[in-house]
Amino acid sequence: MRLGSLSSMLPLGFVLMTFISHCYGHDLRVGFYDGKCGGQDIEKLIYGIVKKKIAKDPDVVSDLTRLLFHDCFVRGCDGSILLKGNHTEQKAHINKHVAGMDDIDDIKKAVEKVCPGVVSCTDVLVMAARDAGFLAGGKRYDVETGRRDGRVSSSKEAEASLPPPTIPVNKAIQMFAKNGLNEREFVVLLGGHTVGTAHCNSFKNRLYNFNNTQKPDPTINSALLPLLCKTCPLHSQSENETFLDHNPTSHFKMDNDYYKQIVAHNGTLEIDQNLAINPLTRGIVEELANSPDQFLNEFGPAMVKMARIGVLTGDRGEIRKTCASVN
Ligand code: HEM
Ligand SMILES: *[C@@H]1O[C@H](CO)[C@@H](O)[C@H](O)[C@H]1NC(C)=O
Ligand SMILES: *[C@@H]1O[C@H](CO)[C@@H](O)[C@H](O)[C@H]1NC(C)=O
Ligand SMILES: *[C@@H]1O[C@H](CO)[C@@H](O)[C@H](O)[C@H]1NC(C)=O
Ligand SMILES: *[C@@H]1O[C@H](CO)[C@@H](O)[C@H](O)[C@H]1NC(C)=O
Repeated sequence: MRLGSLSSMLPLGFVLMTFISHCYGHDLRVGFYDGKCGGQDIEKLIYGIVKKKIAKDPDVVSDLTRLLFHDCFVRGCDGSILLKGNHTEQKAHINKHVAGMDDIDDIKKAVEKVCPGVVSCTDVLVMAARDAGFLAGGKRYDVETGRRDGRVSSSKEAEASLPPPTIPVNKAIQMFAKNGLNEREFVVLLGGHTVGTAHCNSFKNRLYNFNNTQKPDPTINSALLPLLCKTCPLHSQSENETFLDHNPTSHFKMDNDYYKQIVAHNGTLEIDQNLAINPLTRGIVEELANSPDQFLNEFGPAMVKMARIGVLTGDRGEIRKTCASVN
C-alpha cells in the first residue's frame, strides 16, 4: 500500500468539492443533492467512508472502479449490479469476481442515517468510485448525480452486455460506441486496469495453447510469461490472481503505468495487450504512456460520460432503501 501521500491531497479535494452546481443541460447535474439533506454534505460523508475503507483494504479502489463499469454497461447506470437474487447480474459468470457491493451497502446505510430516502444507490456508487480513484492518486473530478435505481437485474443480460477479455479491439470499440463512448474514451477507460487483478480464468488461454497453436501468445513479454505460468500452472484449476499493471510500485495506483506496461508487452489480458498493438488504438496508447497528466486529465471526464449511460431520472426508477434489494 502506498497511499501515504494521499492525506496531503485531502484539502485540495474539499476545495474542489465546493465548485459544484455546474449544469450540464440534462437531468443529471453536479451537486444534485445539495440542500436536499439538510445541512449534511453527502459527498463529504461518502468520501470519508471510502477513505477509511481503502486504508483498510486497497482492493476497494479496483473493486469500485470495476463495479461502476459493470453496472453501467448492463441496463445503464441503475444500480442493477447491486441487487441480490437468484438470476441477477451478480450471478453471471462474467461477474464472478466483481466485488464492492457490500461496500456500497455500508456507505448507503450511513447515508440513509442522515438523509433517508433521498440518495440513490447508483449515485452512491458513482461518488464512491470517483473518490476511490482520487484516493489512489488520480485527479479529483466532479460527478453528476440525480440517478435513480432500477428494479430489474438479469444475469443473462450481464453476459450479453459485458466484454470478455478476448474481445478483439474493433469489437470492443463498437461496444463502447453503442454506449456513447468514442474510441479515445474507450482507451482511456481501459486505463482503469492500472489498478486491480485478474484471475487465471481471464488470461490462462494465452499461456499454453493460444489460439490452438500449442504455444503461448507470442505477444507476451518473455520476462512476464514464466511468472504468469507459475501463477496459473497448466494442470490446475487454480484461481490465483496476478496484477493488471505489472509495475510493482504501482499495483494500487491510479496512474498511466498501465499504458507503459502494455507498450512493453506486459499486458495481462488479451484485450490489454492488443490495445497497444492494434493500429486503431496504438497511437492513443503511446500518447498516454508518454504523458502521466494526459491520462489523469482524461480519465475523470471519461468516467463521467460512462456514468451517463442509460440513467433513470425523473419519475423512472426508485430510491432504494437497501442497495441489495428493490423497495
Ligand atoms: C473491453 C473492455 C474491458 C474488458 C474486456 C475488461 C475485462 C476485465 C477482466 C477479464 C478483468 C479480470 C477479472 C478477473 O479475472 O478477476 C478485469 C478487471 C478489472 N477491470 Fe476491466 N475490462 C474492460 C474495461 C474496463 C473498464 C472500462 C473499467 C473501468 C473504468 C475496468 C476496470 C477494471 C478493474 C478496476 C479491474 C480489476 C478488478 C479487481 O481487481 O478486482 N475494466 N477487466
Ligand atoms: C432463490 O431460489 C430458491 C430456490 O428456488 C428460493 O428458495 C429463494 O427464495 C430464492 N431467492 C431469491 C432471493 O429469490
Ligand atoms: C488464430 O488463428 C487463426 C487461424 O489460424 C488466425 O486466422 C488468427 O489470426 C489467429 N488469431 C490470433 C489472435 O493470433
Ligand atoms: C514486465 O514484466 C516483467 C515481469 O514482471 C518485469 O521484469 C519487467 O520489468 C516489466 N517491464 C516493464 C517495462 O516494467
Ligand atoms: C497457484 O495455485 C496453485 C494451486 O492451484 C498453487 O500450487 C500455486 O503455488 C499457486 N501459485 C501462485 C504463484 O500463487
